[in-house]
Amino acid sequence: MSRWRTALVTGASSGIGREIARQAAARGVDVVAVARREDELRTLAREVRDTWGRTVEVLPADLLTAGGLAAVEARLADPDRPVDLLVNNAGFGSLGWFHELPIDREDRQIRLNVLAVTRLASAALAAMVPRGRGGVLNVSSVSGFQPMPTNAVYGASKAFVTSLSQALHEEVRGAGVHVTALCPGFTRTEFQAVAGSDVRSLPPWVWMTSAAVARAGLDAVTRNRAVCVPGAGYRAVATVVDLAPRDVVRRLTALATRASLPAPEAGR
Ligand SMILES: NC(=O)c1ccc[n+]([C@@H]2O[C@H](COP(=O)([O-])OP(=O)(O)OC[C@H]3O[C@@H](n4cnc5c(N)ncnc54)[C@H](OP(=O)(O)O)[C@@H]3O)[C@@H](O)[C@H]2O)c1
Repeated sequence: MSRWRTALVTGASSGIGREIARQAAARGVDVVAVARREDELRTLAREVRDTWGRTVEVLPADLLTAGGLAAVEARLADPDRPVDLLVNNAGFGSLGWFHELPIDREDRQIRLNVLAVTRLASAALAAMVPRGRGGVLNVSSVSGFQPMPTNAVYGASKAFVTSLSQALHEEVRGAGVHVTALCPGFTRTEFQAVAGSDVRSLPPWVWMTSAAVARAGLDAVTRNRAVCVPGAGYRAVATVVDLAPRDVVRRLTALATRASLPAPEAGR
């Protein structure tokens, strides 16, 4: 029996979000599924109904539009159909030298990874805190634990998400509401293709499955952990990063990330 009754999951059309929606349903939770690709959400709804007998309410929305964001905020605020778990998962990254990347894409990344996450957490907590129950699972990343040269805006956006989640976790302590940052490492989804990363040279052991990440995230928000890093290897790295001097971490990350990209066009 799950602690949650209805979970609203953003980015439920693929990857980690779709897997969180599936596993929530398998635990007896109804789902409100948000993403742009309505056909993928409808396929998920059929699968969930046929396999686990739970309801998936399909809420197609582009969280980069004012209308899309407002529709999801309104759904979270609806007192007649309470959502008691928000999974703030939709997000994307980009790879490249900051001065060469199109700034409009970086702008969209900040609006989805930071602004939409913040607005939806606000709408959810404004409804949950007075009710004295609820949960928010913010999908962040291990990329938020240190500056990320060649993923600079993505790393900064995830540092924001982890910091925001930890602050909110403390703000609602004792109010019956849980807030958790889920910080995965490399996970096999559509993320790398969307970011334009060539990951063929990565060794197999760096990869997590979205099933393992989803399970860790749902368990962590149920137990009200402030931060969850799935996988023993990533937890060990996160501990070292936490303890090591910040300038050493920054330089080592720069050496590792620089090796993965051709030098910028000019100036080096
Ligand atoms: N995969 C990894 O290695 C990894 C590692 C650490 C953290 N993460 C984080 O995990 C989260 C999920 O990513 P993923 O790996 O599952 O990638 P994914 O397979 O690309 O899924 C991203 C999801 O976000 C949705 N989305 C994108 N733009 C949207 C928009 N404007 N409005 C509404 N929904 C939008 C996509 O749906 P539509 O295209 O249908 O809108 C899709 O469902 C992200 O926050 C990512 O930063 C991923």
